[in-house]
Amino acid sequence: MGKTSKPDGGPRHVAIIMDGNGRWAQARGRPRLFGHHAGARRVREIVETCPDVGVDYLTIFAFSTENWKRTQAEVAGLMSLFRRYIFKEMQDFVRQNVRVRFIGDRVKLDAKLRNLMDEAEALTAHCTGTNLTIALNYGGRDEVARATKRLAEDVAAGRLKPENVDEETLPRYLDTYVLPDPDLVIRTSGEARISNFLLWQSAYAEYEFIDTLWPDFTSEEFTRLVGAYGGRERRFGAVPA
Ligand code: FPP
Repeated sequence: MGKTSKPDGGPRHVAIIMDGNGRWAQARGRPRLFGHHAGARRVREIVETCPDVGVDYLTIFAFSTENWKRTQAEVAGLMSLFRRYIFKEMQDFVRQNVRVRFIGDRVKLDAKLRNLMDEAEALTAHCTGTNLTIALNYGGRDEVARATKRLAEDVAAGRLKPENVDEETLPRYLDTYVLPDPDLVIRTSGEARISNFLLWQSAYAEYEFIDTLWPDFTSEEFTRLVGAYGGRERRFGAVPA
């Protein structure tokens, strides 16, 4: 699907690179995982804010294909956090009418986590509110490579003719094939990089690079960035300052 801002000009799909958990924890003299746990609580707050600000799709970068290079203890701690988070939040997502999807290569993830991901997707498949997509073992280049492989298989099997391949073809093979392209990509913690996130899909997105570390990112700041999208200040019912 292509870029699809809302009729009122707001972003329909916001994607977030949640960065800065480690620094947030270190500044408090705590282990990095302490920051990741604080970050997980922010995810809940931002998901809950989406309906209030008209965001229909929220996609968050939870674990990249490069994150395996972190220490074994941090990787194990993150995997355990993801398992617990999905298990704990699943029922709440249903209650909040949130539809959960995952993007990324699941093959390298452990079976218990994969089962929980499948379960959360199935349990929320009927939900019609916010579309929450969690990128887990996701890399934009890896996604394009996996998509190209499947496209090539279809060509080899005679299901697709090379002369029919155009800009609309590849997105159908991407993990995000049911999602509109992001309108706004936010990265926290002061780094102005996109780090292999939604490379194809973000071709026309606006970017916001902000200094706030992810565990400090509030619903108010999210609301402000959504309101400022497209250079338009929308106040979501608030009294003008
Ligand atoms: C980047 O901060 C953050 C991550 C690699 C993990 C993101 C995970 C969470 C926010 C946890 C919760 C997510 C879900 C879906 C439950 P960093 O460690 O790179 O921070 P640093 O740049 O300060 O070191």
